[in-house]
Amino acid sequence: AIDIKTLRAATGMVTIDPGYKNTGSCESAITFLDGEKGILRYRGYSIEDLAEKADFLEVAYLLIFGELPNKEQLEKFHSDIKEESQVDEEMKKILDGFPKSAHPMGVLSSLTSALVAFNPSCVDVSSESAMYNSIVRILAKFPVLVAWTLRKKKGLPLDYGDDTLGYVENIHKMMFKRPNQEYKRDPIAIDALDKLLILHADHEQNCSTSTVRIVGSSHAGLFASLSAGISALWGPLHGGANQAVLEMLEAIEADGGDTKKYMAKAKDKDDPFRLMGFGHRVYKNFDPRAKIIKKSADEVLGNLGIEDPILDIAKGLEKEALEDSYFVDRKLYPNVDFYSGIIYRALGIPTEMFTVMFALGRLPGWIAQWREMRLRKEPIGRPRQVYIGENHRSFVPLEKR
Ligand code: ACO
Repeated sequence: AIDIKTLRAATGMVTIDPGYKNTGSCESAITFLDGEKGILRYRGYSIEDLAEKADFLEVAYLLIFGELPNKEQLEKFHSDIKEESQVDEEMKKILDGFPKSAHPMGVLSSLTSALVAFNPSCVDVSSESAMYNSIVRILAKFPVLVAWTLRKKKGLPLDYGDDTLGYVENIHKMMFKRPNQEYKRDPIAIDALDKLLILHADHEQNCSTSTVRIVGSSHAGLFASLSAGISALWGPLHGGANQAVLEMLEAIEADGGDTKKYMAKAKDKDDPFRLMGFGHRVYKNFDPRAKIIKKSADEVLGNLGIEDPILDIAKGLEKEALEDSYFVDRKLYPNVDFYSGIIYRALGIPTEMFTVMFALGRLPGWIAQWREMRLRKEPIGRPRQVYIGENHRSFVPLEKR
């Protein structure tokens, strides 16, 4: 048998697979996904079990280091993170430079990149300990950047966290603490946030994760790789879908709640409208995360005593889609983004911040994938192409064109 390397060298063969629909970019031991059966596992543990029984920091450790931490490991990890929770004061000036109207994803991507300047040791990717240094720093500082991005939008002062709190509780406090007001612990909101972050924590080689791996493969540091991943996540076909879903549901509500009209638009090939939050490159069955989030949306809204007509519209759309041959034939089911925005909204998070929340959840997954790529000593990512442009042409001087 001839191996692919020899074959390529002998024939110059290049495979073309736009969108990488059938091309694996790496071997990975982090996340298992069976799109036909609707199965998702992190390091072998089912997403259902993790969402119910673990907390986000444990899941982050699991994804990054491969095993669930014991008590000492978890405490050490958390204390290493807490030690790095300050963000250089100069970073506030950078944030100040953005107009209030700036999209939070652009702000977050820029701030993440800017962090390198204040943490120069984080460009070192040459050893496990150097990588650990970057990992704990970003797990500590990223939530601060997220909170600052939100607080800037809301015109609130920029604070730091509270090291006496759990990782997610601290994030909640940094986001929602009001000046001159006692912060009230809200267990329902914190649990819901924890669960949402777990459900978003990794999803194998999606667009943003592939971006993180490919940028990291040039030996750019972790923060630069993450900044690129954040930009990739921003798009409405990827993480940006959660914002787009809520805007779509609000538009349907404002338009009288006629879901059938929007179903027809989604099926009309001359209309660019798509039913946001439906369909997935890999899931050709229910996205298991969507099932958990739908249940959680019901619980959170019930527990917080919120009646949101948007949730009814979402359920109506889902029901119609599941009975509609267009969606059934194309195996278009609700994805993770379909219900998450309803919970974010109930938690008081502005719509423009939804994709930022996704990034916060995806952070450990990106880190785990980047670390795996480095430990496996993967070569620089450099796809080939098939050239379809002009053949050789003689240069024409400007005055003769
Ligand atoms: N509404 C209406 N039709 C759809 C939708 C949708 N949401 N999604 C796919 N289709 C149709 C396409 O028009 C196409 O129809 P055709 O075969 O008649 O041409 C068929 O289903 C296949 O769709 P593709 O776009 O080829 O599938 P692909 O795997 O490339 O795209 C994607 C997947 C991007 C998720 C797509 O389903 C989509 O745009 N969904 C809406 C956006 C969204 O929810 N994105 C979040 C994804 S999850 C995440 O990133 C976290």
